[in-house]
Amino acid sequence: MDFHIRPIREGDAEGINALRLMPGVFENILGIPSERIEFCQEYIDGLLRNDHQFVAVFDEAGEERIIGTAGVSIMRSPRLYHSANFGIMVHRDFQNSGVGTALMNTILDLADNWLMLVRLELDVFCDNERAVHLYEKMGFVIEGKKRMAAIKNGKYADEYIMARIRPGFEG
Ligand SMILES: CC(C)(COP(=O)(O)OP(=O)(O)OC[C@H]1O[C@@H](n2cnc3c(N)ncnc32)[C@H](O)[C@@H]1OP(=O)(O)O)[C@@H](O)C(=O)NCCC(=O)NCCS
Repeated sequence: MDFHIRPIREGDAEGINALRLMPGVFENILGIPSERIEFCQEYIDGLLRNDHQFVAVFDEAGEERIIGTAGVSIMRSPRLYHSANFGIMVHRDFQNSGVGTALMNTILDLADNWLMLVRLELDVFCDNERAVHLYEKMGFVIEGKKRMAAIKNGKYADEYIMARIRPGFEG
């Protein structure tokens, strides 16, 4: 499949909003069906130097179509500067085709070799088996379970806390 990965930029709000609203995506990312493009625009406008966001772009007849995003945001407290939150989503029609793996490789290279972060962490719904599999493949481990952590389709659903320590790091 012909796609490439680049940093997020001005003008990406519409494509990202479409992903965030998409069944097959929004249920697992704390999206809500009423979310507006303005929310994504504010998010892009509000990104700081220590927020690192990439998009995966499908080249369609010379036009770019955003098919995934992934990013890390370094924690704000000075004593947590070695840690970052991780997030990812891939367009429903492009899932299970290696896009998530490619996005994660991009983020892990940045985190390990250019930011030299020690700890990446995330929350994931316990029933999101594909995401848990991908995270474990990339070196994340389950550290605990948050019970009734977030709303999912009319229920309070459990989430795992997962984290990855940079390979070879000696604390
Ligand atoms: C989770 C997500 C980011 C993964 O991206 P992706 O492009 O589909 O992932 P990839 O195709 O690179 O890899 C998927 C892996 O999961 C495996 N997989 C697929 N369905 C699975 C399932 N039901 N259970 C376990 N593993 C599964 C695939 O075999 C593949 O593993 P492999 O590389 O070892 O063969 C994507 O599916 C997505 O955006 N889902 C909706 C939003 C979401 O869940 N975001 C994460 C919130 S924490």
